[in-house]
Amino acid sequence: MTAPAARPTLARTDGQPILAPSILSADFARLGQEVTDVVAAGADWIHVDVMDGRFVPNITIGPLVVRALRKITQATLDVHLMIVEPERYVAEFCQAGADVVTIHAEATPHVHRALQQIKACGARAGVSLNPSTHESCLEYVLDDCDLVLVMSVNPGFGGQSFLREVLPKVAAIRRMIDARGLQDQVALEIDGGISTSTAREAAAAGARAFVAGNAVFSGGGGSKAYAQRIADIRTEAALGAGVMT
Ligand code: DX5
Ligand code: ZN
Repeated sequence: MTAPAARPTLARTDGQPILAPSILSADFARLGQEVTDVVAAGADWIHVDVMDGRFVPNITIGPLVVRALRKITQATLDVHLMIVEPERYVAEFCQAGADVVTIHAEATPHVHRALQQIKACGARAGVSLNPSTHESCLEYVLDDCDLVLVMSVNPGFGGQSFLREVLPKVAAIRRMIDARGLQDQVALEIDGGISTSTAREAAAAGARAFVAGNAVFSGGGGSKAYAQRIADIRTEAALGAGVMT
């Protein structure tokens, strides 16, 4: 019997920071073109914010939109579920074509089970922590994660200000990942208020994947404008991470 192929890591092969533009700030009337433009501009992942009006006070999109995006891009679809009882929906998002499905630690008493469900569907499994949630909730599930997503705003809306108080938590999670030798297995992503003003300190604390909605899409402009904004944020993140080439 041959062993299953090792799952390729979520990191970039060149070690550079991962940029994941959030389509929450894109022009929804032109969503397909926005995604095509931002991928052409150098986005590594497309971050898809799913909100249910219960876990967060906003309603956005569901599996149908993920399915539609899957048809037009090969980029990693990084699906962030801000919904209660995520275990009811993870299979649907996986079947729609999500590459990474992230649930919130606060949204279910069954985080471990939900992670196994995601992996059983063939997707990468992530856990997200609200700003007030302690990193200790990862203690018994970190080895089962492909990704940890630290919220640096209270989830629900784009365009909010970065909460610096989460930086010690990012550093603590980075230490947990490194201490367990999981650097190549667990990606550490930060989400909320990321821009050229904040990416460097988030990277210095240990984040290696950066969600940016407002800072990429605000004002539109198409692939040329997006390429400049992505490159600028990536440069700041690389400086913070000490991986400037
Ligand atoms: C907030 C979402 C974020 C948001 C980030 O609930 O999870 O992904 O779109 O947007 P900015 O980068 O504008 O803070
Ligand atoms: Zn998000």
